[in-house]
Amino acid sequence: MTKKLEGRVAIVTGSGANIGEACAKALASEGAQVVLADINIDGAKRVAQEIRDAGGEAFAHPLNLLEEDSVRTLVAAVLERYGRIDILHNNAADTRSAQMAADGPIQQLETAVWDSAFAVNTRGTMLMTKHCVAAMIEAGRGSIINMSSGVSILGDVFNPAYSASKSAVNALTRNTAAQFGKRNIRCNAILPGLILTPLSRSMMGAEQLALLEKHTLLPRLGAPDDIAKAVVFLASDDSSFVTGQLISVDGGITTHQPYVGEVLAQLG
Ligand SMILES: NC(=O)c1ccc[n+]([C@@H]2O[C@H](COP(=O)([O-])OP(=O)(O)OC[C@H]3O[C@@H](n4cnc5c(N)ncnc54)[C@H](O)[C@@H]3O)[C@@H](O)[C@H]2O)c1
Repeated sequence: MTKKLEGRVAIVTGSGANIGEACAKALASEGAQVVLADINIDGAKRVAQEIRDAGGEAFAHPLNLLEEDSVRTLVAAVLERYGRIDILHNNAADTRSAQMAADGPIQQLETAVWDSAFAVNTRGTMLMTKHCVAAMIEAGRGSIINMSSGVSILGDVFNPAYSASKSAVNALTRNTAAQFGKRNIRCNAILPGLILTPLSRSMMGAEQLALLEKHTLLPRLGAPDDIAKAVVFLASDDSSFVTGQLISVDGGITTHQPYVGEVLAQLG
């Protein structure tokens, strides 16, 4: 059976672990040649090796989204090796536990914390798009998949800098889709709900996880593979008429009246 992404080259940022790892592996299993770009180069190398061990094609390259030169170097290396870029998955974000812990009440919010969220999550996404889009224009097609979050569209009491930076990613997604649609380059964003990873588990206690599960319409919280399946869809021709969309992959947590979780619990 022909694989959906045979002959296509994909860059996945922040793919040295967790959601990015799952996305990179899913793209590779559909035949894409995958570049694992991460500041965590050891993680990226491990994932690249695991993809090759499974019969896929991948290589790891260091990336620091804070530095435009690092983005330039990455893109040049990808073009030298593969000669094309078909898929860009902007997955990386500043999710360091110290950053997320400091991204709290606005009265105490340090400007450095705000700036770091925007520098990695939003400016980093813009820089990757800026340097990859010429190759997509030349190829006459491309798919850019930005990683946003459910908190980009709904108010929460945590992480104002992170939330705002992801709302800006939504705006950038639609702007990119508008700018490059006539070149056959699509740009969409995925808005995950809570995805169970070591980081999200460490940030939330059992009680908080149970609360989120109660308000999720489906009977479970998310897994990295749930996001990876959406990324493969958006990367492939299956979504060839889909662009400028903010696609929630969240078990329905952002779709209902705030009281639905309580009502369902009462109904048993
Ligand atoms: N886990 C969740 O519940 C959840 C929910 C909503 C959205 N998301 C989004 O999904 C994406 C992946 O999240 P995750 O949970 O797998 O977290 P993660 O921390 O495992 O992934 C972030 C990756 O980005 C990389 N990174 C950080 N700073 C970088 C920089 N300056 N340059 C290059 N790479 C850098 C990290 O090394 C890491 O590999 C993020 O965009 C996150 O905001 C996650």
